[in-house]
Amino acid sequence: MSDAIIVEDLKKNYGDVEALRGVSFRVKSGEIFAFLGPNGAGKTTTIHILTTLLRPTAGSAIVAGHDVLKEAKEVRRKIGIVFQDPTYDRDLTAYENLYLHGKIYGLKGSELHKRILEMLKFVELDKFKDKPLKTFSGGMIRRLEIARGLMHLPEILFLDEPTIGLDPQTRVKIWDYIREIKREHDITIFLTTHYMDEAELLADRISIIDHGKIIAEGTPESLKRLIGNDVIYVKFGKPLNDLPDFEIPFTKTYRILEDGRLEIITKDASKVIPKIFEEVQKLGLKIVEINYKKPSLNDVFIHLTGRDLRDSEKQSNGVTFHMLRRFPRR
Ligand SMILES: Nc1ncnc2c1ncn2[C@@H]1O[C@H](COP(=O)(O)OP(=O)(O)O)[C@@H](O)[C@H]1O
Ligand SMILES: [Mg+2]
Repeated sequence: MSDAIIVEDLKKNYGDVEALRGVSFRVKSGEIFAFLGPNGAGKTTTIHILTTLLRPTAGSAIVAGHDVLKEAKEVRRKIGIVFQDPTYDRDLTAYENLYLHGKIYGLKGSELHKRILEMLKFVELDKFKDKPLKTFSGGMIRRLEIARGLMHLPEILFLDEPTIGLDPQTRVKIWDYIREIKREHDITIFLTTHYMDEAELLADRISIIDHGKIIAEGTPESLKRLIGNDVIYVKFGKPLNDLPDFEIPFTKTYRILEDGRLEIITKDASKVIPKIFEEVQKLGLKIVEINYKKPSLNDVFIHLTGRDLRDSEKQSNGVTFHMLRRFPRR
């Protein structure tokens, strides 16, 4: 399989802010590739560079066989884009919006007309073709934007947070469209998301990005295997600052997370949990919550960064995290 996207050591500074700090990855033709990371990780910046809207500070990117800096026009012809922040004309109808877009890409006459109807049908908006967009819901707008991104039969479709702010049912619909685009139209898809379920459900391969750097990459399965079989979280009556002095068999790693919970990674949680109770009792600590599960992508993120992807999502810009306290293996 050839590479649809080749990115090497991409850097982008906005003044003092290092939004990308040396990002490299490859996307294979025909795959769905997800960039997963919290708010401010650098996802939109990456998409804007790959779609020729933004110049990198350093590094290179080849998209659909063309250099984004030297052959921007060729790149633009071969890609479709669905932006995080919608860009459409509210007073025009669905049909008119797609018409304008098709014209820009050189489609005309009956071919253009046929293509608009096909695309509206694909996203189930054919009944609304003559309605102005100001009467559309957020989900309908997203669907129309996907149709617009596909109008000129791109080789690669870029989707920046395709389901952000949508209700659960609409999200499922959008996921169906994305899978169908890959299956039926053989289009490479590059999407960004801060939703783990989205990345896990859709992506053939995922890069996890945090603070402008890729911290892990692989299939959803291989990423989860990174951390092992079972992960246990123990919450104490009062958050821990230091690792308690105890020995628990069958475990590879213990550590304290930023929120004061204890993370334990083990081959077999059912053997380890009774031991935890024993040890904790000896130390006079109080457990208020203990749970274990097979690792999810969120657990991979917690393991790699010491914090929860969902929590960091809630943090606004400018809030710094406590330094992760790492402990050596025992
Ligand atoms: N135009 C800009 N000017 C200054 N800082 C920016 C600009 N765009 C993004 N940033 C900063 O760059 C970092 C990455 O932003 P962005 O690429 O939008 O992340 P994401 O899409 O993953 O949320 C953030 O710290 C953000 O505040
Ligand atoms: Mg973004």
